[in-house]
Amino acid sequence: MRPINCVLSVETSCDDTSVAIVKDNGFVVCQVSAHQDLQHAPYGGIVPEIASRNHSVALLPLIIHVLEKANLTWKDIDGLTVTNRPGLIGSLIVGIMTMKSLAQANQIPLIGVNHLEGHLLAPFLKDDSYAPPADFNYPYLALAVSGGHSSLYWVKALGDYTVVGTTKDDAAGEAFDKFAKMVGLGYPGGIQVDKAAQSGDPTKYDFPRSLAAEDNLMMSFSGLKSSAQRLLDKMPAEEIEKNLNDLCASFQEAIVDVLVKKMLRAIDRFQCKKIVLTGGVSANSRLRQKFNEVAQKHKLQLVIPPLRYCTDNAAMIGYTGLLHLQRGETADLSLGPSSQSVQDDFKYDLQ
Ligand code: KG4
Ligand code: ZN
Repeated sequence: MRPINCVLSVETSCDDTSVAIVKDNGFVVCQVSAHQDLQHAPYGGIVPEIASRNHSVALLPLIIHVLEKANLTWKDIDGLTVTNRPGLIGSLIVGIMTMKSLAQANQIPLIGVNHLEGHLLAPFLKDDSYAPPADFNYPYLALAVSGGHSSLYWVKALGDYTVVGTTKDDAAGEAFDKFAKMVGLGYPGGIQVDKAAQSGDPTKYDFPRSLAAEDNLMMSFSGLKSSAQRLLDKMPAEEIEKNLNDLCASFQEAIVDVLVKKMLRAIDRFQCKKIVLTGGVSANSRLRQKFNEVAQKHKLQLVIPPLRYCTDNAAMIGYTGLLHLQRGETADLSLGPSSQSVQDDFKYDLQ
C-alpha cells in the first residue's frame, strides 16, 4: 500500500455536509461545509429525513468543489475517510455509500471513523491561519459539548480514550436549544441565548446546578430545563420579554458553572495540565471566558480549536481516519453505519 499522506474526508452524521482534504501533520488543505439550519428552523429541531435528503443533494458537488479548490485530482488522494458512527442513520448512509463508491471507482483505501474520536483529535488540526501550541500533545482532558453530546474524556494516546464523565440526560447544547425555544428565540438557540446573555445579569435567577457538588464527573441538564419551564410558566409573556437578557444570562451561567466545576474536578483527579474544549457549545462566549480564567489561574495549557474545527466538520474526520489508515487499518466495501459497537471505541470509568 502506498504511504498515506493526504486524505479526502466526509462528515454527514447529523445536519452538516462537510468535506475536507487533510495532510498527515493535521494540516487542513481545504474544508467546505453546507449547513442546513434554515431548512430545519421551521420545525424547531433537526428532521432526520430532511437532513439525509440535503446530504444527498450537496455531497458529491461539494467533493468535486473541494478537489478543484485544492487543485488536486484523485491521483493525489491516498485515502478516503468517512464518519460511520454514531449519528443519524440516514445521514450516515449518504456519506458512507458515496465514499465506498469513490473508493471502489478510484481504488483508494477507505476507513470509517467514529465522530466522537474526531472531536477529540480536533485540537491537532492546523491551517494557514491557525496552529495549536507546538508542544501540545497527549495526554489531555477533553470536554466535548454539543447538541448531541456532553462528555469528559481522558485522552491518553491515539486510540486510547476513556469516558470519565458524561451527561445522564440532555446534552448541554440541547438544553440551550430547548431553553431558547421556551423563551421564543428560535432554532438553533444556543447562539441567541449567548447573545442575549451578554447584557443580562447572571445572578438574577437561581437555576439548579444538578450534580455539580457531587464528587464525580457526571452531569445532568434536564432538571435545569424543567426548572426553567416551571419559572417561565409562572411569568406573563411581557415579563419574560422584559427580563429576557437576565433569564438567558442566568440559564447560561448554570450550564457554564457545571461544565467548569466538572473540568476542575477532572483536572484534580488526573493531575493533568492540558485541557481541550470542543463541540459546538465551545462557541459560547461565557464558557470560553471561564475556561480561559481557569487556565490562567491553574497554569493550564488550554486548547480550544477554532470554531470551524469545533462544530461538526470533515477535517477532524480526515485527520482521525488518516492516523488509523497509517496504522494499516482499512474498511472493506461492507462498511455500514455503526458497523462496530460505538461503545467498543472507548473505555468507561464513570466513578
Ligand atoms: O457541534 P455542533 O455544531 O453540532 C452537534 O450538535 O453535533 O453543535 C451545535 C450545538 C447546538 O446545540 C447549538 O445551539 C450549540 O451547539 N451552540 C451554542 C453556541 N453556538 C452553538 N451553545 C451556546 N452558545 C453558543 N454560542
Ligand atoms: Zn459532533
